[in-house]
Amino acid sequence: MSTKIDRPQTVLISGAAGGLGSAVARRFAADGARVALSDINAAQVAELANELGGIALPADGTDRGAVREVVEDAASAFGGLEAVIGVQGAQVKSTTNPSSNDGWDKSLAVNLNGQFYFAAEAIPHLLKSQGSIVLVSSSAGILSGPPGALGYTAAKHGVVGLARWLAREYGPRGIRTNCITPGWIRTPLGDGGMEYIAERDGITLDEAYERTTALVPMRRAAHPGEIASVCAFLVSSDASMVNGHVLVADGGAAVVDSSTAFFN
Ligand SMILES: NC(=O)c1ccc[n+]([C@@H]2O[C@H](COP(=O)([O-])OP(=O)(O)OC[C@H]3O[C@@H](n4cnc5c(N)ncnc54)[C@H](O)[C@@H]3O)[C@@H](O)[C@H]2O)c1
Repeated sequence: MSTKIDRPQTVLISGAAGGLGSAVARRFAADGARVALSDINAAQVAELANELGGIALPADGTDRGAVREVVEDAASAFGGLEAVIGVQGAQVKSTTNPSSNDGWDKSLAVNLNGQFYFAAEAIPHLLKSQGSIVLVSSSAGILSGPPGALGYTAAKHGVVGLARWLAREYGPRGIRTNCITPGWIRTPLGDGGMEYIAERDGITLDEAYERTTALVPMRRAAHPGEIASVCAFLVSSDASMVNGHVLVADGGAAVVDSSTAFFN
């Protein structure tokens, strides 16, 4: 098993320009790792890489060929790869209405296919390093997401299945794979969900966060760093026997009355 890596020194992060991805990048860089940062937002990922002394590998994470190049570039720059953190994601409107088919396709492409591509392309390198994968799902990966999030909900459930399958398949060969299901996090994506509620109910963004987390036992959304620290734990040797786990980091929402805690 992958107990020999105390803390990975070479880490590839997808969706690294975003609210959570950048917090994950900062956390690993602060822990002394060399970070490879991938995102479709080339300018932002370049700025962050510059700040952290990492490498920027901009790419559309829904394109398997592009992801393959990112993984190969990261592995050759670092002489290997010890951890992959799949963070990329987007909420795209999707319902059963035929006019929203495009939203379904886009939801699955960004939130599920992209996670699969990064993990699959990294496997040969992780077999060599006996490394680890963390995939970011969502509360919508174990509960229903909010209205308009059909594709997102299906994709995030898919991420849980992807992590479990990888854990079973590659655990015997030394790669641990785990999954995180955060609740609301204060990021641009979280703010997007809140803006909808704020506009609908004529309240501020802060009030929208308060309203949507009123039934959550912790009574608040997460700060991105609180989820980044879970990623750091899962890929470290402190989690050497944790494989195929779905770690719920939602302030206790999932133990309340299912999805009403978040999506009322
Ligand atoms: N914010 C929340 O409340 C929340 C809750 C649960 C789960 N999540 C999950 O956390 C992860 C990070 O989200 P966030 O809140 O930081 O959102 P964010 O919008 O700040 O970041 C998402 C990042 O993914 C990138 N991305 C989108 N499409 C891409 C593509 N095709 N190729 C490459 N990169 C692409 C974006 O450019 C962005 O930098 C996502 O998987 C999201 O589903 C977020």
